[in-house]
Amino acid sequence: MYVARPIEWTDRGVVMLDQRRLPGEEIHHTYTDYREVARAIREMVIRGAPAIGVAAAMGAALGALHSPAKSIEDLRTEFAEICEVLAKTRPTAVDLFWALERMKTRFSALAAQTTDLNKIKQGMVAEAQLVHLEKKATDEAIGRFGAELMPKEGQVMTQCNAGALATGGIGTALGVIRVAIEQGKKLHVLVPETRPYLQGARLTAWELHRGGIPLTLITDNMVGHILKTGNVSAVVTGADRIAANGDSANKIGTYQMAVLAKENNIPFYIAAPVSTFDLTIPDGDHIPIEERSAAEVTHLQGVRIAPEVHAAHFAFDVTPARYIAAIFTERGVARSPYRESLRALAAAPQPVSSASCSTV
Ligand code: MRU
Repeated sequence: MYVARPIEWTDRGVVMLDQRRLPGEEIHHTYTDYREVARAIREMVIRGAPAIGVAAAMGAALGALHSPAKSIEDLRTEFAEICEVLAKTRPTAVDLFWALERMKTRFSALAAQTTDLNKIKQGMVAEAQLVHLEKKATDEAIGRFGAELMPKEGQVMTQCNAGALATGGIGTALGVIRVAIEQGKKLHVLVPETRPYLQGARLTAWELHRGGIPLTLITDNMVGHILKTGNVSAVVTGADRIAANGDSANKIGTYQMAVLAKENNIPFYIAAPVSTFDLTIPDGDHIPIEERSAAEVTHLQGVRIAPEVHAAHFAFDVTPARYIAAIFTERGVARSPYRESLRALAAAPQPVSSASCSTV
């Protein structure tokens, strides 16, 4: 089955598939400067929480690799600045900050082991590649856990794009659907367009179609009607940040979908890696919600579709935990009460170990 590859580390640099141009064109860019990677994240060349994390890790590695620093101390100072620049790209997806923390930890460990700058640089590149490999293995584990809760046959609704394009693996929500289909389940995916950026229409529809997975594209304002009348067995989405009590931020529109799913007795599931947990915040009120340019609302592919009025563009919303039937992770399935189940999963051993990934 076709799996999109949004990002790769190569000898030439970090290669990204430009998601702004899909589905019309498949254009790749090669970045050799971490500032270009930061810009690519901010401008949505790459998007989706786990893929943003992979991009940040690779950006940090690129910055270290090409640093002109002549001493460890200079490299340490420059590396902190590199991480700062990458951290300022998008505020909601916690995988970005998780990946940068991980790269900082690796930098400190390497700097404590050797004074050879080249070894440190190569170690940072290896760590970024490992982050990517781990994401791939993580998605497959999420997919296996989630597939068990998918119906044998029926319609499943998703939101935005939580597929390969959003993770660098097989996807989280779409990974669950993919694994279920590979197991022989007969699923049909309902794909809301996901205004204003159209990740559903442009990206999820493209990925599913290329993978031969049956789908129906709907407009966002059909969601309630279809959940009430459309024989939907489950909803499964990704997440950008999950607070300690289970409140989950995801693409704008997810909250209303979850409320309407509950109203119609349809289970609403989230599929996300443990790196999406933010157990430092008690609930969803503490999740920063990205506000993007109003031009992305007033214009469609560069064409103005509204008069010159004020427009709001909240990119995410928070679904309260009470609407979430379960959260699929690579370490198992969390259920309410989430304060306990998320803490237990965060403390559980990672099934996707660095050692197993290095031999992939
Ligand atoms: O603004 P985006 O396209 O980065 O938002 C992406 C989403 O909201 C996804 O649904 C979420 O990151 C989960 S991706 C596996």
